[in-house]
Amino acid sequence: METLHDKRVLITGGGSGIGADMALGFAEAGARVTIVGRRQEALERVAGQHDNIDVQVADVTDEAAMLSLFDTLGEVDVVIANAGAADSAPLERTDLAHWQRMLDVNLTGVYLTLREGLKHLRPGGRLLAVASTAGLKGYAYVGAYCAAKHGVVGLVRALAQETAARGITVNALCPGFTETPLLEASIDTIVDKTGRTTEQVREHFTRTNPSGRLVQPADVTATALWLCGPGSDAITGQAISISGGEI
Ligand SMILES: NC(=O)c1ccc[n+]([C@@H]2O[C@H](COP(=O)([O-])OP(=O)(O)OC[C@H]3O[C@@H](n4cnc5c(N)ncnc54)[C@H](OP(=O)(O)O)[C@@H]3O)[C@@H](O)[C@H]2O)c1
Repeated sequence: METLHDKRVLITGGGSGIGADMALGFAEAGARVTIVGRRQEALERVAGQHDNIDVQVADVTDEAAMLSLFDTLGEVDVVIANAGAADSAPLERTDLAHWQRMLDVNLTGVYLTLREGLKHLRPGGRLLAVASTAGLKGYAYVGAYCAAKHGVVGLVRALAQETAARGITVNALCPGFTETPLLEASIDTIVDKTGRTTEQVREHFTRTNPSGRLVQPADVTATALWLCGPGSDAITGQAISISGGEI
């Protein structure tokens, strides 16, 4: 069903995982989708799956690149700040470079995407940020990531207050452990550091979810489509947990 026919949608981090699934879901709903990331080949692989998807290479942490991206795009109806990364380390071993990298991509990248997105948003537009359950609770060994994701939730709550009177909604999506390349990388790191097997670590992540399964990218896409479809005008400034009841 083409509920978003001809809407212009920008999704950062659209070359894999949650962003790729959202790109296909929005394209299937009739939207014209632009996906953004640093690796052109990854973006092209996703765009090759649907005629409604095109690609732009940009680093979300680079202000000049984001200005130029939105200049090229013009007006948009939906902006989804999804790009992110999750490095792990105990806090005593989190050096300043690690801390800064996590804040840059997960928080400053969202700030730049939403700030520029808002300037180019059509009336009644939608802003979404993919935060995380790590924006709502703490997890060991990802202090910098958790701090950045809590920051995203704060930014969304503040921005919603600024835009509500203009009919623009701003919400944060907070998935729990989701089956994507990012989670696979986290599992590999834990296997390397602890000697546990891949199956044991996967089982550990699955058990955090009371539903007894990992979140799927499609769960996040469905929530994003709902927040961009009819009847969602009253929902703004929310951090929506998509975690099977974890939080
Ligand atoms: N998987 C989970 O368990 C989980 C749970 C909660 C929240 N999340 C959040 O969901 C979002 C998507 O993650 P995912 O799980 O789908 O992982 P993913 O497959 O690794 O996707 C992350 C995407 O972000 C892009 N990206 C990273 N740094 C970038 C930068 N500086 N500029 C532009 N693009 C950049 C990557 O593309 P390039 O490398 O080509 O740039 C990649 O396509 C992230 O914000 C993540 O924190 C994930």
